[in-house]
Amino acid sequence: MGDGRVPVTVIGLGMMGRALARAFLAGEHPTTVWNRTAGRAEELVAAGAAGADSVAAAVSASPLVVVCVRDYQAAYEILGPVSDALAGRLLVNLTSGTSAQARAMAGWAAERGAGYLDGAIMMTPPGIGTAEAVILYGGPSETFAAHRPALTALGGGTIHLGADVGLASVYDVALLGIMWSTFNGFMHAAALVGSENVPATTFLPLARQWLTGVASFLTPYAEQIDTGDYTASDATLETHLSPVEHLIEESRARGIDATAAEYTKRLVEEAVANGHALDSYARIVEHFTPALRA
Ligand SMILES: NC(=O)c1ccc[n+]([C@@H]2O[C@H](COP(=O)([O-])OP(=O)(O)OC[C@H]3O[C@@H](n4cnc5c(N)ncnc54)[C@H](OP(=O)(O)O)[C@@H]3O)[C@@H](O)[C@H]2O)c1
Repeated sequence: MGDGRVPVTVIGLGMMGRALARAFLAGEHPTTVWNRTAGRAEELVAAGAAGADSVAAAVSASPLVVVCVRDYQAAYEILGPVSDALAGRLLVNLTSGTSAQARAMAGWAAERGAGYLDGAIMMTPPGIGTAEAVILYGGPSETFAAHRPALTALGGGTIHLGADVGLASVYDVALLGIMWSTFNGFMHAAALVGSENVPATTFLPLARQWLTGVASFLTPYAEQIDTGDYTASDATLETHLSPVEHLIEESRARGIDATAAEYTKRLVEEAVANGHALDSYARIVEHFTPALRA
């Protein structure tokens, strides 16, 4: 263990679990694998993994047990019958879920004498094990520090968010929310320029450059959200209003769904009606913050 190559068990060999196991093998960790449906381990066993013939054997094989299955219910179904075997081991749950599910599973693991880290994978399977792979963890700092060398095999962006096991799930959905808003914005934009016969691939370089600029706009907004001082340094909410109306008009004229733009207009109008016409766009955070909502 001194060289960081702690034996690892991976339970769940779907697309993500197989990628995790491959990354542990690439990091030269003795790797044991198990999956509900037999056969999915074959490629990994050929690559050097030990295929366990039962969940109990899989759990017992390693001090570090990683589970990555469809949902928490599946994780309980797999681990529940063999939970005594978890005592003295670390359970790292990379299954997607909510913060409440993560906190409940941490308690469940503690009752069985197991350590627990909850993780959120911000990468698709082909990127696992690369420097770019971001995996977020919540759980006790000393537990994370002790297992960091092994977990780093899964991605260069291995990040400990704090002692709260619920944090990784909250970050996960927060980041995915940004992703889906961006995807929808791009699809809407591609439909708009497409209606003028501009291929999406022609539009793409400008869209990517614009996204870099938009990302930089977030720096003052984050500071404003934290301080509560929304003094506009770029554009006022009032200034945002008419371009949003143009987006709605251009969309409607082409039969393109303008719902997202109408929603944006509603948010801006609400803030303006609350007396914030001269504030920055960051003031909109109040709409999403129940305690601050007028
Ligand atoms: N794929 C991604 O890009 C990605 C990215 C981030 C996070 N994740 C998360 O990673 C987790 C796994 O995703 P995946 O892409 O690997 O999904 P997947 O390819 O559909 O694999 C699902 C896995 O869960 C197992 N499973 C499902 N129900 C089960 C049950 N009742 N009992 C036992 N095992 C059960 C499956 O076993 P069988 O083979 O027996 O069906 C399989 O190993 C999910 O929580 C997902 O949200 C995935």
